Amino acid sequence: MSERIVTMLSAEQIAARVRELGAEIAKEYKDRNLVLVVVLKGSFIFASDLCRAIEGNVRIDFLGVRSYGEGTETSGVVQITQDLSRPIAGEDVIIVEDIVDTGLTIAHLMDLFRTRGPRSVKVCSLLHKPARARVGVNVDFLGFTIEDKFVVGYGLDFAERYRNLPFIGIVERT
Ligand code: IMP
Ligand code: MG
Repeated sequence: MSERIVTMLSAEQIAARVRELGAEIAKEYKDRNLVLVVVLKGSFIFASDLCRAIEGNVRIDFLGVRSYGEGTETSGVVQITQDLSRPIAGEDVIIVEDIVDTGLTIAHLMDLFRTRGPRSVKVCSLLHKPARARVGVNVDFLGFTIEDKFVVGYGLDFAERYRNLPFIGIVERT
């Protein structure tokens, strides 16, 4: 059995939307202490493009999270594998995610961050799969709503593969 990847969002479509999100964020966070929290590993490519699309002062920090095993189903247990390098007290935080699927990861991170006294916490996700929601989460800055398909590329993986694809696609077994 082999796999092929069918394009869902091209590199050009992604780039155009990321530019719009960057402009939207820059406008809302003008003259504030914005911290982008990059949720590893899936959002590393999105975040690197997004931060360059935001004009103004931005601090960037990284958070390692594991919620999946080798499969395509969330375990529902969110484990922090690497914490932030600095406190976020008094700061305006945007959590940058690749995809909000069941919502469990974001819900857990919002709860965790609120205990650390930031001035605000919002969520920016490139993708959202509302069909799979298990908890309600508000995505303040959203790239694309997608149907219930497992996607890879532009940072997203299937068992650690395909993160380096410049576009987002669906894995098809052939
Ligand atoms: P949630 O906790 O179910 O919302 O899942 C969040 C995490 O699961 C994301 O940050 C991704 O790392 C991973 N994930 C969810 N759906 C997909 C997908 O379609 N492709 C690749 N990773 C996914
Ligand atoms: Mg992720």
